[in-house]
Amino acid sequence: MKRKLEADIMPEIKERHSTTVFSSEPVDAKDLEEILLAGTLAPSAYNGQPWRFYVVTEQAEKEWLAEYMLPAEKEWIFDAPVLILLAGYLEDEHNGLYNYWAMFDSGCAWGYMSLEAQRRGYVTHCVGSFDRVDLRSMFQLGEKLDLYGIIALGRPGKTEKALFEKSPQRKSVNAVMLRRKE
Ligand SMILES: Cc1cc2nc3c(=O)[nH]c(=O)nc-3n(C[C@H](O)[C@H](O)[C@H](O)COP(=O)(O)O)c2cc1C
Repeated sequence: MKRKLEADIMPEIKERHSTTVFSSEPVDAKDLEEILLAGTLAPSAYNGQPWRFYVVTEQAEKEWLAEYMLPAEKEWIFDAPVLILLAGYLEDEHNGLYNYWAMFDSGCAWGYMSLEAQRRGYVTHCVGSFDRVDLRSMFQLGEKLDLYGIIALGRPGKTEKALFEKSPQRKSVNAVMLRRKE
């Protein structure tokens, strides 16, 4: 699904969208490894690399994860062969202080992963509606983590259906320009 954009923008950016229909075809192990690697190539404040991943492929683990999710997402997300829980490590490893940029940097890693996945013919959908507090407590160092999203990754399903019937409208660049107070 290409966005109808005249601008000369990377095809992966134009094509990426949040699909809700995944094929059951597995994700190649090397592809998965290199999609994660692409995420780790994101820039980060002081090169802190706060992103953390938890990869779920087994049915039993999916069922465990399902307990933390809302019914709407449960309808489709478990069709995806791979789920990547994206977290941020909140402590600056140099000085032990709070890393304000953890979410910013981890979001960039998600962007890189989604585009690398797209380039390899996969589709993704990041979901943020799950019980972050309870799920966080299931992890070592949980109190030093924030959980940002569960990224569904897989090949597009035959009926490839986007989250919205039409490509979601984007605000114009002009509409998102900040203006200083008079
Ligand atoms: C951090 C984050 C959280 C999101 N949470 C959800 C969610 O809980 N459920 C859902 O269906 N989509 C979720 N999405 C997908 C967005 O709705 C989607 O990216 C947005 O509508 C733009 O559509 P597009 O990704 O197809 O361009 C989330 C996306 C991001 C980046």
